[in-house]
Amino acid sequence: MTINILGIESSCDDTSAAVLSNGVIKSNVIANQDVHKAYGGVVPELASRAHQQNIIPVVDAAIKKAGMFANDITAVAFTRGPGLLGSLLVGSSFAKGFSLARNIPLIDVNHLQGHVLAHYIKEEESDIDQPEFPFLCLLVSGGNSQIIIVKSHLEMEVIGTTIDDAAGEAFDKCAKVINLPYPGGPLIDKLAKDGDPLSIPFSKPRIQGYNYSFSGLKTSFLYTIRDRIKEDEDFIQNNLNNICASLQYTIIEILMNKLNKAVKDTGIKEVAVAGGVSANSGLRSALLEYGKAKGVNIHIPKFAYTTDNAAMIAITGYYKYLKGEFAKQDIVPLARFSID
Ligand code: KG4
Repeated sequence: MTINILGIESSCDDTSAAVLSNGVIKSNVIANQDVHKAYGGVVPELASRAHQQNIIPVVDAAIKKAGMFANDITAVAFTRGPGLLGSLLVGSSFAKGFSLARNIPLIDVNHLQGHVLAHYIKEEESDIDQPEFPFLCLLVSGGNSQIIIVKSHLEMEVIGTTIDDAAGEAFDKCAKVINLPYPGGPLIDKLAKDGDPLSIPFSKPRIQGYNYSFSGLKTSFLYTIRDRIKEDEDFIQNNLNNICASLQYTIIEILMNKLNKAVKDTGIKEVAVAGGVSANSGLRSALLEYGKAKGVNIHIPKFAYTTDNAAMIAITGYYKYLKGEFAKQDIVPLARFSID
């Protein structure tokens, strides 16, 4: 039997719809929202309005691109949370309506679980590079920095989390300090390629266990730039590549340090990375080098599935469908929603 899952993602500022057939991707359509660029961050009210405009055309395009009709869809999966409540309401209301109108199961998905399970999206039946259970997942996005023990598709345990800012936020907020547009992560990644990562030292946190903290780095970055500008008013323009390379290097050091501790303590030699920051080329290289040096299998998701997308919601929906885990019509979205 072919199970066609329609996935809907609307947790932040991307409206996305995807169709998967038995876990194999058929379409993944994403509408980005340029409206936020002028404000240096996502404006929640503008995001939910844009989702309302985008949701029907995006779903329509995803079903057509998959070569299907609405009545070919077996079940509809949507992001329940975490995210912006107004944005989540648009996707969840649409999914409820679609499920009701077509009389098909409704499946609620945790957005973070979706990021982790992005590793199981197949581009064709024969795709095999999937992490084996149990594995450690470094989940790094704009809202989260976590180390998770993934025991099965739907069983996950968070062993470390950020106590303040997320890694993506550190990239974005520091980018703002040096006048780069939002989101700063991809730009810093690009500019870092031509810089010296050891040229400007920034402070690193000392936190117990597997938890992360990035607020100290943000302050250290702000003060360092402010002090250097006092000596040279063109410091940012003259040292942009070095600033980006040093910041990126410090963020990667912080992330890898705790990941290494988790690998050592748990003895788990399967490691995956997920979330928007996993698109970072420096982090990808650091993980691959680490894997080679320590005999750890590293799994890096395909670039298209690192940032927010509905294919990861559809794959999670697929595994929940196989277990018969369906939602009722009275389900409500959650701004905060833990993976475990
Ligand atoms: O997972 P995501 O799309 O949204 C959330 O659920 O948060 O992650 C967005 C975050 C942003 O902070 C963005 O700056 C960061 O991912 N990001 C990157 C890169 N691409 C996206 N950070 C560093 N390097 C990149 N190449």
